[in-house]
Amino acid sequence: METPGRIRIINVLKSKETGREITVKGWVRTKRTSRRVTFIELNDGSTINGLQLVVDAALVGEDKLKQISTGACIKAEGLLVESPGSGQPVELQVKSIDIYGHADAETYPLQKKEHTQEYLREIAHLRPRTKMFGAVLRIRHAMAYAIHKYFNDNGFFYLHTPIITASDAEGAGAMFQVTTLNLDELLKSKEPRIDYSNDFFGKRTSLTVSGQLEGELGALALGQIYTFGPTFRAENSNTPRHLAEFWMVEPEMAFYEIADNMTLAEDFIKYLVSYALDNCADDLAFLNTKDSDLLARLKGIVETEFARIDYTEAIEILEKVDHVKFEYPVYWGVDLQAEHERYLVERHFGKPIILTNYPKEIKAFYMKLNDDGKTVRAMDVLFPAIGEIIGGSQREENFDKLSARIEELNIPTKDLWWYLETRKFGSAPHSGFGLGFERLLLFLTGMSNIRDVIPFPRTPRNAEF
Ligand code: 4AD
Ligand code: MG
Repeated sequence: METPGRIRIINVLKSKETGREITVKGWVRTKRTSRRVTFIELNDGSTINGLQLVVDAALVGEDKLKQISTGACIKAEGLLVESPGSGQPVELQVKSIDIYGHADAETYPLQKKEHTQEYLREIAHLRPRTKMFGAVLRIRHAMAYAIHKYFNDNGFFYLHTPIITASDAEGAGAMFQVTTLNLDELLKSKEPRIDYSNDFFGKRTSLTVSGQLEGELGALALGQIYTFGPTFRAENSNTPRHLAEFWMVEPEMAFYEIADNMTLAEDFIKYLVSYALDNCADDLAFLNTKDSDLLARLKGIVETEFARIDYTEAIEILEKVDHVKFEYPVYWGVDLQAEHERYLVERHFGKPIILTNYPKEIKAFYMKLNDDGKTVRAMDVLFPAIGEIIGGSQREENFDKLSARIEELNIPTKDLWWYLETRKFGSAPHSGFGLGFERLLLFLTGMSNIRDVIPFPRTPRNAEF
């Protein structure tokens, strides 16, 4: 179905049906006048490409044409003709123009062609109109769709896990609290004291850091599920890889061992990258003009087999490195830093790696303990330039072992009794992982800051738009 009252520019450019009268609506990217003809590049967001409007001032009116500048929103009617210029297959010989919204040339913040990413972040309400952001946002959409398609085609069910939760899945403690208690009023009382039994849910609640624990409940009933939604972390990390609000894709599968989990993760990422190459060609071609390696990197990933190595092997490799000085020391048991991960991926292996069998001390309580009693069946997928893109594991399905681990870590069992019950009734081996959606988009778009692959980033001290 075509949009009422207009043809979207993506379809105009595709159809190449010249000789017909059409109506288009969109925003002016550029306007230039040569002799008696004015050329307007119109974009409506449906594609990165613009439609060239050829405007005769005598036809639409000198005054009206003067009012149209970069950023203005207009409707144009005219005849679609073959374009004599080399830049485009077709162009519109305009018969009439209506102006929906002006954009004052003196004050419109996107007047210039090139802006820094920092500047654009300050005008997040307008940056979707830039070429770069339009490309990123269309790719983001395509990837969300491809994620649902991949899982649906492979027999996974989409499970909606809650956003408000009373448990802390990762045990990291960096959560945003959710409350309806009036903190201002509380402070005014003589002896300020918080009684969560008076709070909305009758207990302390937060925004979820992961849908995994509830995802496991789904997998142990439906076989294989995935969640895909916003997750929240209140860690104060101001890095180009961290957001306080980000989207995570979390599949969870009954009867999957850790190796099956790795195979799925690799197949999933390759599918998504291939999907982008096949379906986002124009946007990727544009991004490739900013980062000339991008397309080659994407194609490379699809064709490369990821390396699978043990944490212990990784430490051995890193300990032997003498030509690079790491800021953080390397020893068995250490939580690998970005510099270590990047050395392994970019310099040692030269391709994505899946690291597994980490020391239990540096991983979450739910991971399955190996027979050595020291390591757990964790797996992290590490990517060039990005670092960790996926974190996952086989889950501990043994009730006694899981209970012991929970006790060891002093996690209050009163919050997790329901999780433990799945290990009591019909427990099954199972595995899953979480893909950071924005980390994936960083890789796909070649953007260098995670704030530039989400429409309205949430980071410490930043929630304006
Ligand atoms: O490794 P993480 O913490 O794993 C979990 O949350 C598991 N419960 C997932 C599971 O097994 N179902 O996070 C998973 C991924 C990371 O690999 C990273 O890509 C992304 O989520 N991530 C972030 N992305 C942006 N900003 C942050 N602050 C992120 N923290 C994690
Ligand atoms: Mg992780």
